Amino acid sequence: DHLRHVDSMATLPSGAGKIPELNAVILGESLASEEHDLVLPTHDFAQQAHVSSPQKYLEMYKRSVEDPAGFWSDIASEFYWKKKWGQQVYSENLDVTKGNINIEWFKDGITNICYNCLDRNIDSGNGDKIAIHWEGNERDVDGSLTYTQLLERVCQVANFLKDSGVKKGDTVIIYLPMLMELPITMLACARIGAVHSVVFAGYSAESLLQRVMDCKPKIVVTCNAVRRGNKVINLKDIVDAALSESIKNGISVDSCLTYENESAMKKEDTKWKKGRDVWWQEVVPNYSTTCAVEWVDAEDPLFLLYTSGSTGKPKGVLHTTGGYMIYTATTFKYAFDYKEFDIYWCTADCGWITGHSYVTYGPLLNGATVVVYEGVPNYPDSGRCWEIVDKYKVTIFYTAPTLVRSLMRDGNEYVTRYSRKSLRVLGSVGEPINPSAWRWFYNVVGDSRCPISDTWWQTETGGFMITPLPGAWPQKPGSATFPFFGVQPVIVDEKGSEIEGECSGYLCVKSSWPGAFRTLYGDHERYETTYFRAFPGYYFSGDGCSRDKDGYHWLTGRVDDVINVSGHRIGTTEVESALVSHPQCAEAAVVGVEHEVKGQGIYAFVTLVEGVPYSQELRKSLVLMVRNQIGAFAAPDKIHWAPSLPKTRSGKIMRRILRKIAARQLDELGDTSTLADPSVVDQLIALADA
Ligand code: WTA
Repeated sequence: DHLRHVDSMATLPSGAGKIPELNAVILGESLASEEHDLVLPTHDFAQQAHVSSPQKYLEMYKRSVEDPAGFWSDIASEFYWKKKWGQQVYSENLDVTKGNINIEWFKDGITNICYNCLDRNIDSGNGDKIAIHWEGNERDVDGSLTYTQLLERVCQVANFLKDSGVKKGDTVIIYLPMLMELPITMLACARIGAVHSVVFAGYSAESLLQRVMDCKPKIVVTCNAVRRGNKVINLKDIVDAALSESIKNGISVDSCLTYENESAMKKEDTKWKKGRDVWWQEVVPNYSTTCAVEWVDAEDPLFLLYTSGSTGKPKGVLHTTGGYMIYTATTFKYAFDYKEFDIYWCTADCGWITGHSYVTYGPLLNGATVVVYEGVPNYPDSGRCWEIVDKYKVTIFYTAPTLVRSLMRDGNEYVTRYSRKSLRVLGSVGEPINPSAWRWFYNVVGDSRCPISDTWWQTETGGFMITPLPGAWPQKPGSATFPFFGVQPVIVDEKGSEIEGECSGYLCVKSSWPGAFRTLYGDHERYETTYFRAFPGYYFSGDGCSRDKDGYHWLTGRVDDVINVSGHRIGTTEVESALVSHPQCAEAAVVGVEHEVKGQGIYAFVTLVEGVPYSQELRKSLVLMVRNQIGAFAAPDKIHWAPSLPKTRSGKIMRRILRKIAARQLDELGDTSTLADPSVVDQLIALADA
């Protein structure tokens, strides 16, 4: 079977030469020389796949980049549009030297993504199909909703929102854990044309406040508490703290819809602000289960999602409706080889982009059955994921490398105890997956039969950009393989020149794709500067990437001041500003350092205020400062006392040196002669384990 597949790659479709980086793969010669590195799709899988061979991919890919308008409008036509888009399917300017950056897809098309997720699937006979299987933190707590039931719930919330004065274009902040109410509220906002901004429920009051101040929501939707593993986290207290602080800063939120998450906390124990707070269970069920759709333009905003960048202030990434809808639906279908019978589980939280595009919109647009899990993956023990896979007969399992590595460390017995026979496709996202974790995922979890889609993408891209298509490609463990339809990745050097063939450099994208973000909320200039000015003519991802001689892409991590900790994106400057807000901290410099499980850990160099001695307590209170200002997930793994920091004569911190010290690569410090005071480095090394 394997041989047959390799053989079939030798026949080239004519004209394929126009896409040079793909030739090597298609030709198969160089592949053969590396065959020990390849994991080939099984014959059975390839036969049934949407894209069953490299040739098929190439045909579709060629069309997608040569005729994007035709390619995407054919797909868009499968969805419901109240009114079809205008003459021009898309328009774009990605070149700052030619004017403002501007991306539009399906402009003047009138649609609604909630309608396309729910009503459309119900109308086509899927009303009784399960839309969501919800699994609680505790084993015996679960529930499910069919498409019809989901629509009813969504309509009730939509009616409540309307009744509370939320109109088209208004913002709603959602601060909820992974209850069904989270996707329900997102869809309810979409139904009435409101813009949702989900804030991950692990963020602190301070971070929530920042977001409230930036997007000024009409209403906040939350719950009183959540149980994560054995811990109970009081979310309502966090919301209260953020909202009372926002009033002092002139932003008052009129209404706070609070879901009583009974298994974590009783109503009676919840602090309450009369006049502002309303219990979900007391009001929402009273509303009608039908709600007319607010039809919106394809370019009307769908959501804002704040993400970390190189500077302190989080960026409100704005996605619009039409292009995002078509893109998430299509990427979901192809990258997971989705079929109607699939049961799909993505372990991401809806507080991150993955939960937007691939828990909520992408799957529901395809009429899929989605598992939503409230708890942590190793509670009550490390077998929980596979227990859930068996319980719901999950066929597609999508997760992050950090989880794979932590479960790998816990031993195979937790996996092999469960059948996992239902699984057919695995997925990975959030950071590069190291080949050993890839192999364990493939061999142990997937019993060497399930292809792995290692999907590279970002909050900004809306959906997958570089990803295997299961069944189409021989896989190389650790490589995200090839671009998705319509995506033209380029690797550029320092000067911004495209480099061809086997190379490594900065990953950029040429031309727009429907799922691209359109702006940073309220700051189009920052959007242009951050993403389009570095290499004029391209979207700059912030990631490094290399391409091997077969054309496969290998992501090498961020090249800016962003780190990926357990797949969570954190700006080093955010952590630094949290640290320096501690009264005894004079200065801080944060770098990422390799971490066995988390991928990257947070390593902080801290200079104390003159005269303050180092102590364990101070270390703890610095870490606590970060937990309180950002959230527990951003807590530094290491505080390294620094009498002073290595700086150039102009006062710039030399992070390159700090990274080497953090990694203990002391023989690779490089040239330190440009430092204002080179002896700082020896001081730091001496204090490495203090
Ligand atoms: C990283 C998450 C390697 C990358 C969807 C990117 C990855 C950042 C992969 C975006 C992958 C995501 N391989 N790196 N498959 N997927 N990344 O915005 O550094 O939370 O720039 O979006 O995660 O993180 P974000």
